[in-house]
Amino acid sequence: MEEFAKLIIDGKEITLPVIVGSEGERAIDIRSLRPQTGYITFDPGYGNTGACKSAITYMDGEKGILRYRGIPIEQLAKSSTFVETAFLLITGKLPTRDELTSTSVYLNDASPVHESMKAFYQNYPPKAHPMGILSAMVNAMRSFYPELIDLEEEMNNTYLRLISKIRTMAAMAYKISIGQRVIYPRPDLCYCSNFLNMMFDSAVVPYRMDNDLVRALNVFWILHADHEQNCSTTAVRVVGSGKVNIYSAISAGISALWGPLHGGANQAVIHMLERIRKDGMSVEQCIARAKDAEDDFRLMGFGHRVYKTYDPRAKIMKEMCDIVLKKVKCKDPLLDIARNLEEAALNDTYFKEKNLYPNVDFYSGIVLRAMGIPTDMFTVMFAIGRLPGWIAQWKEDWIDPEMKICRPRQIYTGNILNEYVPIDQREEESSVS
Ligand code: CMC
Repeated sequence: MEEFAKLIIDGKEITLPVIVGSEGERAIDIRSLRPQTGYITFDPGYGNTGACKSAITYMDGEKGILRYRGIPIEQLAKSSTFVETAFLLITGKLPTRDELTSTSVYLNDASPVHESMKAFYQNYPPKAHPMGILSAMVNAMRSFYPELIDLEEEMNNTYLRLISKIRTMAAMAYKISIGQRVIYPRPDLCYCSNFLNMMFDSAVVPYRMDNDLVRALNVFWILHADHEQNCSTTAVRVVGSGKVNIYSAISAGISALWGPLHGGANQAVIHMLERIRKDGMSVEQCIARAKDAEDDFRLMGFGHRVYKTYDPRAKIMKEMCDIVLKKVKCKDPLLDIARNLEEAALNDTYFKEKNLYPNVDFYSGIVLRAMGIPTDMFTVMFAIGRLPGWIAQWKEDWIDPEMKICRPRQIYTGNILNEYVPIDQREEESSVS
């Protein structure tokens, strides 16, 4: 049965359709509101705005649920691989064995980066942040690999090319930044092993592959693979809605992810923990500062726009932390600080009342540190993981007949009609006054 909402505005009653999602989520379709009444809706930060219909990821922030194409994140993290999860997100179904094999073969075949692109890296200043480099490199891919959007097979190859090359470009950026020889991808290694090898193999010390760390990287990337309409995904959709090429849309997503309130939080958490350690701050002092409205100190890795309970990804990441630290036989003093902070915050009235729980970034930095990933590369690791989600969301938008170019409205609060005064007259008037 069709549902409607009634709204009385300026004494006039109007009827607006209600849209119901497959999990019972409800939205009032306000598309006819302005034509009928002249009113727009006001929602800065889009906290209560549904910008699209999507069949990719389901989240329930109150219950702490996250599912890709209906499959719980816990099951994917336990049993899937990053490549299989990427296939699931982009195509909507789990691959057959043949499909998985051909995907892996294509990912390996496409992994080298065009030799001329190497020159780009060498011309960046040595301290350039790898997220800036990655965003520029992905945008530049359009010039090297123009995609043919009207051919399905070509587009499928474009998605895989992006997933394959982003990993090579990220590892290359790291090697060049530390002045080491670039390690090329190896056809005998799987997606995650190849990345670790490209990052850590060197002429002096050959990299010893560890299956547990490869598994940990798979899980890390699965947990980051999609998160419905977050800031960077919205950037991808908004930029893509102008019908720009996919590389530019993804490049915009990488830039959006860089911010410390979004994907940059994993790096910000480590900086915060290091500062706490260096300054000898107590847990109580940190909590007090985070609660002080006059102080801009926030507990990084805490809070989320959608989750009002423990982020299900954070639960898995916390378990991973123990596994990886045990594996590399390392005791990270930042982990003790993190655990104490978490315990104190979860028992604090301010955090409880505002439903502030650890998010995925709270423990992910410690996992990455233990794997040997440098702090500057943390957000790049998030970007590699999020890529399949961005692609799936871009694709969904591209083929959705209901989607239009994104163009929000505003409430204008500036000057009302004003006269232009020529500069001579302005000077004359100011010298008199
Ligand atoms: N520490 C202290 N207070 C906080 C925090 C925090 N981490 N997060 C939110 N608050 C307070 C905030 O001050 C506000 O208080 P009041 O109501 O008195 O003004 C209230 O909680 C609501 O916060 P908000 O900023 O209005 O909420 P939001 O939905 O706009 O922001 C957020 C969500 C994630 C940006 C925010 O919680 C935050 O800045 N967290 C730290 C950064 C972080 O960890 N980001 C990673 C997010 S998860 C990765 C991803 O998917 O992007």
